[in-house]
Amino acid sequence: MKIGVIMGGFSSEREVSLQTGQEMIRHLDRSRYEVVPLVIDRRSDFIAQVQQAGIDIALLALHGQYGEDGTVQGALETLGIPYTGSGVLASSLCMNKQLTKLLLRAAGVPTPAGLCWKGMDDYDPQAVEQLGYPVMVKPNTGGSSIGIGLVHNEKELLPAVQECCCLDQAILIEPYLQGTELTCSIVDGELMPMIGICSAHSEWFDYQAKYEAGGAEESVIQLPPVIEQRVREAALTSYQLLQCKVYARVDIILCQDVPYVLEVNTLPGMTATSLLPKSAAAAGMTFSQLLDRIIASSLQ
Ligand code: DAL
Ligand code: MG
Repeated sequence: MKIGVIMGGFSSEREVSLQTGQEMIRHLDRSRYEVVPLVIDRRSDFIAQVQQAGIDIALLALHGQYGEDGTVQGALETLGIPYTGSGVLASSLCMNKQLTKLLLRAAGVPTPAGLCWKGMDDYDPQAVEQLGYPVMVKPNTGGSSIGIGLVHNEKELLPAVQECCCLDQAILIEPYLQGTELTCSIVDGELMPMIGICSAHSEWFDYQAKYEAGGAEESVIQLPPVIEQRVREAALTSYQLLQCKVYARVDIILCQDVPYVLEVNTLPGMTATSLLPKSAAAAGMTFSQLLDRIIASSLQ
């Protein structure tokens, strides 16, 4: 079978995507697959590149806009080329944190309160005061924590919002929840062992903590059964509600025993330091086996 590993792209997560792609290429079983790396950039004609490669399936290693958000999935659907992971709708919904939160809230899944501003015209420090500091200021459709700021007071608010405005058309502001960060990887609708995260040098799981060796301590977390069941339900309900397929990673903060869902990642990182492969390994699945499963499940 001929596999095209699609990576790069032109979102702010391009570098992470290249790392995901390299790691996938390293682990794809060559006795089963012929592997074609397809690096996408602004200069390349994506459609021609993919068509000329004559692949049986596109293994998506893209993250962020123009890749994880349903656009590439839509193009591949139109071309009749199978691809890995969730479809167009789930991909675009999950890329939009605010819409994700609205749906989660409607389904009774806990998620932090939030304000969403469409730009500097909506800037309203009083509304943030009411939410209560500290707050997290996030690009609404960002990833890998790029552009996210932890804001402790009104003085820090303006620069954080301005930075987000450079990256995104909408800004999300959520109260900072002090608790245990954990992540739920789901493969084929099945929850893998949950991983708890303890960032080494920062108050939250920022870019450095995510991708630098030693940036965070990440290990399988044991929770009291009642709490574990709550987390499991929140993660699986989110996955199903948002119509995710094949695999995804649900990021959660456990605060006073309530699992607040922060977001659902439809193309979670698969770099050497990423969480989904660690979770799968804890379930006894090698990276190669994980890729086999993702590919087989995507072709069903
Ligand atoms: N957006 C990054 C790649 C992640 O969720 O792992
Ligand atoms: Mg994300």
